[in-house]
Amino acid sequence: MARTAEEFNLLYEQTNGDPWGYESRYVTDRLDASLEFVSKYLPNAQPLQFIEFGPFDGSFTRRILGHFENAKVLAVEISDHAVAKVRKNLQGKDQGRALVVQGDLVSFDLNSVTAKPGPVVILALECIYYVSPEERARVIANWTCHYPDAFIFISGPINQDRYLDESWLIEQFGVRGWSLVESKVLTVRHVPILGRLRRTSLMLANVLGSFKRRFANQSIFVFKAANAQLKLK
Ligand SMILES: C[S@@+](CC[C@H](N)C(=O)[O-])C[C@H]1O[C@@H](n2cnc3c(N)ncnc32)[C@H](O)[C@@H]1O
Repeated sequence: MARTAEEFNLLYEQTNGDPWGYESRYVTDRLDASLEFVSKYLPNAQPLQFIEFGPFDGSFTRRILGHFENAKVLAVEISDHAVAKVRKNLQGKDQGRALVVQGDLVSFDLNSVTAKPGPVVILALECIYYVSPEERARVIANWTCHYPDAFIFISGPINQDRYLDESWLIEQFGVRGWSLVESKVLTVRHVPILGRLRRTSLMLANVLGSFKRRFANQSIFVFKAANAQLKLK
């Protein structure tokens, strides 16, 4: 898996700028389901400060800016190719509320986030698994320590070997006094027989634990500290 800016830039050069197919239904449905999950917890009129790591082309950034009318987004992206894409895609009315910077989620200095209009919400959707488990632990320690009132949303494929390990994630927050508020399956694996039954299998994955373990692919998690000020809706 790519890790550095150079490796991500090369990946984008080799895949015509989009290795994941951001126009596909699979991705747009996942982004819509992620927004639905995030917006369940946060009042849309409040002046929230989102810190979004790994925005890629800004598809989720745009959804956030569209839904949370008073929010600001600081988007931190490792690849300068992707930074250029986000900036291009945010041209127009959204741009004034978004700041896009090139940076690595592991070394990004949270002290540099000065203009906070309101409570902080951290978004790390489909990006934290690109860094090593040791780096992930450091990042979680840093976020939880720096923003004890934040809501932290993380998504990724739940697969212990290569991507994210759900128990590990819950434990990393747990030892810092944070708890899992909710998790939701966003996509199911590409299983040919389930191809035409994607919505049904997604619903089953969200209600049946055993089915989930077998077929769930990407899941989203929201964590908060015990004493977080921001009230759930
Ligand atoms: C699969 S895309 C996910 C994009 C978007 N967050 C979403 O949910 O659709 C992963 C993105 O994370 C970026 N990325 C990967 N590692 C990163 C890091 N260490 N720091 C910041 N961005 C990173 C990649 O360049 C890419 O834009």
